[in-house]
Amino acid sequence: MAVWWLLLALSCLSFSDGLQKSNKYEGFKIYQLSSKARSVALEEALSELVKNASYYEVFPGFKGGNSAKVMVHPDEQVNFVKLMDDNNVDYDILNRNVGLTLSRQFETNRMLRQWFPYNGRLGTERYYSHDEINQYIEDLAGKYPTRVFLKTVGKSYEGRWLKTITITNGDARRNKNVILVDGGFHAREWISPAAAVYLIDQLVNNSQENADLLQDFDWVILPVVNPDGYEYTQLSADTRMWRKTRRPSSNDCIGTDPNRNFDFHWNEEGASLDPCDNTYAGAKAFSEPEALVVGDLIHSYVGRGKFYLTLHSYGSLILYPWGWTAAVPDTVEDLDEVAQEGKNAILEATGTVYTAGPSTTTINYAAAGASDDYAFNAGFPISFTMELPAGGTGFDPPASDIDHIVKETWVGITAMARRVIKKYPL
Ligand code: ARG
Ligand code: ZN
Repeated sequence: MAVWWLLLALSCLSFSDGLQKSNKYEGFKIYQLSSKARSVALEEALSELVKNASYYEVFPGFKGGNSAKVMVHPDEQVNFVKLMDDNNVDYDILNRNVGLTLSRQFETNRMLRQWFPYNGRLGTERYYSHDEINQYIEDLAGKYPTRVFLKTVGKSYEGRWLKTITITNGDARRNKNVILVDGGFHAREWISPAAAVYLIDQLVNNSQENADLLQDFDWVILPVVNPDGYEYTQLSADTRMWRKTRRPSSNDCIGTDPNRNFDFHWNEEGASLDPCDNTYAGAKAFSEPEALVVGDLIHSYVGRGKFYLTLHSYGSLILYPWGWTAAVPDTVEDLDEVAQEGKNAILEATGTVYTAGPSTTTINYAAAGASDDYAFNAGFPISFTMELPAGGTGFDPPASDIDHIVKETWVGITAMARRVIKKYPL
């Protein structure tokens, strides 16, 4: 008899093992390096190491001596730890097995999809697919035909429809000013489309309370700029950390960084011409349909458009131009005034500490060819990248974090919008 129990136990073990095991990130660890000043030599050694993309990935906070997060392949961990020890660098292990974290999250997300099927409203219980998000905005437009309007603005490389939702107060007044918001540039930054969806939900379903936000301004929102990438990251733990779009480049590598593909200082600092890199700028400016759609959208609202906001993660940052150079524009005081408003509102609401400042010096790297600089240059007087807070290993806040993060983001966005509305009256 006992042998049956043993067999059963063994088969369960191997079964659960089979469920959880061997994704690409099995055994990867994330190290957090101490923020104490590190030698130039070490900094250089690190920069060399991390060029090996299959063994290392560096997460935000690395450059400029901030406390760095480095994800390291199991075969490299001995080397890595030795390098740190030799250089007297302290580190914490933030995650001992990224693969396990990701496969558990994958399972949880699968269950949540079953527990919370789409029912006409998108709550904050789980992450939604691109189809569900499009369905949701379709449904809103059907339900509120006098104040919610959809427009198909393009198609992703794999053929997914890119649709904007325009939210008005229904007074049919034309040519109001515009606030343009997008999310989901980077595939793995799931909290960004989630925040865009919550913004849509509040503006539409809570329009009485938010009447002042819709009096002289229309809101135009594109919740998922890069749906191919977004869907790819939902397929498996292996693909969860994908950042780019999905169009294959000439050689073996796939995808372009849509936020390096804009036609403003394209392919200058912080962008790569190597199609295998995570910051590949594309073969030329606006080579990618997803970036072009946003570029066209920006142009179509120049004049009316007073505030462009692009939602990313992570870092808890509100970034304003420029992002391609460390210089700041003449109107830096206007930009800063609005950004501080968002930062302070969030601090007061939840205690989350955002940093607001000029992009390049605040996030500690220049990145040219991005949408925020493009919109600002095109004539949006206020143009921000908001990096929402980290969760999970960084880009992957668990579903249980969604509610908190998107609500706090809403507080920040509305505080900034109210300041914009005051500064740029119709
Ligand atoms: N994390 C964003 C990115 O790398 C930051 C973009 C900030 N804006 C900029 N123009 N550099 O795309
Ligand atoms: Zn991003």
